[in-house]
Amino acid sequence: MQGKRIVLGIGGGIAAYKTPALVRQLVAAGMDVIPVMTESANHFVTTTVLTTFSGHRVRNDLWDLEAERSMGHIELARWADTLLIAPATANLIARLANGLSNDLLTTLYLATTAPTVVAPAMNLEMWNHSATKRNIGVLETDGVSIIGPDYGEQACGETGPGRMLEIEDIVSHLLVTTDPIDTPMTGLRVLVTAGPTRESIDPVRYITNSSSGKQGYAIAEAARDAGAIVTLVSGPVALPPPKGVQQINIISAAEMKSAVLDIANDIDIMFGVAAVADYRPTHSEPHKIKKMYRNGSPMSIELVENDDILASVAALSDPPYLVGFAAETQSLVKNAVQKRERKCLDAIVVNDVSDHTIGFDSDENEVTLLHAHGETTFDKSPKAEIASKLVAAISELYTSNRT
Ligand code: PMT
Repeated sequence: MQGKRIVLGIGGGIAAYKTPALVRQLVAAGMDVIPVMTESANHFVTTTVLTTFSGHRVRNDLWDLEAERSMGHIELARWADTLLIAPATANLIARLANGLSNDLLTTLYLATTAPTVVAPAMNLEMWNHSATKRNIGVLETDGVSIIGPDYGEQACGETGPGRMLEIEDIVSHLLVTTDPIDTPMTGLRVLVTAGPTRESIDPVRYITNSSSGKQGYAIAEAARDAGAIVTLVSGPVALPPPKGVQQINIISAAEMKSAVLDIANDIDIMFGVAAVADYRPTHSEPHKIKKMYRNGSPMSIELVENDDILASVAALSDPPYLVGFAAETQSLVKNAVQKRERKCLDAIVVNDVSDHTIGFDSDENEVTLLHAHGETTFDKSPKAEIASKLVAAISELYTSNRT
């Protein structure tokens, strides 16, 4: 939205060095940004660069009489259409959650009635600590939107959840959530799996299937457009990464399971669209298997069952709302109902994969959504349309499930 007024609160974490670029992109998207720094943020970014990019004097002191004369902190709190806090350190999150107002930024948080969006950034152990989880829970209960953190390599050298969400994702979140269109998944964290998995036989051969990823990617995009913070765990496909979506690429079912379980505790809704291989070779040969001249005698590969990813997520103590997909060729509804129960899913979407104009590697699909209270069929249409309808239906089910 043009002219939207953002107070950008900057906490004292290493990710603060990215805030000049964030200010530039917010301004380029038509927003008016006043940066407010905590004292420790001064260690990571200068007021000069933030002033240059925002066109506003940076505020960093509750007792700055000159700045207070031009716009007092209460006026600043009223000026904001959104208070965006990025990066939000563990310490800053704790102060916000406890209503401490011992500097300008935490005072603004209490004084503003504008929606507050918080982008956490910290070491993964700090993010996983029960105290941080508790504080995040308090902020969410207080109506704050938590966006991120991302999963990936951290400044401390470790890999896991805790990186500040990419700047493009923060900007697109603000754009989407300020768009007048209905955004039923605003602030929700959605995980989508998509594409096939590959189970290695030797370095050049594998077992896989013909999932193109089209349906899963369309769901990730529809959830993003509905305001969600989306993570896409994708098997090997030929599609470009969707913009504004955090993507984790994997190859095998075991890698998909590990990527999913790493973040599943921080997710509100999961769509399991991936065609995960049910079996893998018991053993993957380290070298290419040589052709043997066997005179027609059969050769066999021993297979072992892969863990069921959705069932593993369902077994967590506080699982997300779980939506599975069922690829069936007969008795679609009957088989899907059984699959939903067996895997302890909230909902399941069944498609007929014996029809080559829908399902695997086609541009269209026709699906039936089944849940505890009934079923809805979405007639044959492009996968993007099916995805928008499913996202709308699931956000309604998710909301009614919580109330
Ligand atoms: O990718 P496209 O070409 O667009 O095709 C879309 C699709 C046909 C792949 C998609 O619409 C679909 O049906 N996805 C589910 C495919 C599948 O593996 O179905 P299933 O009935 O075998 O598995 C049921 C559910 O369990 C799925 O949500 C699957 O992700 C999940 N699963 C399966 C095995 C396993 N080890 N772990 C799982 O979590």
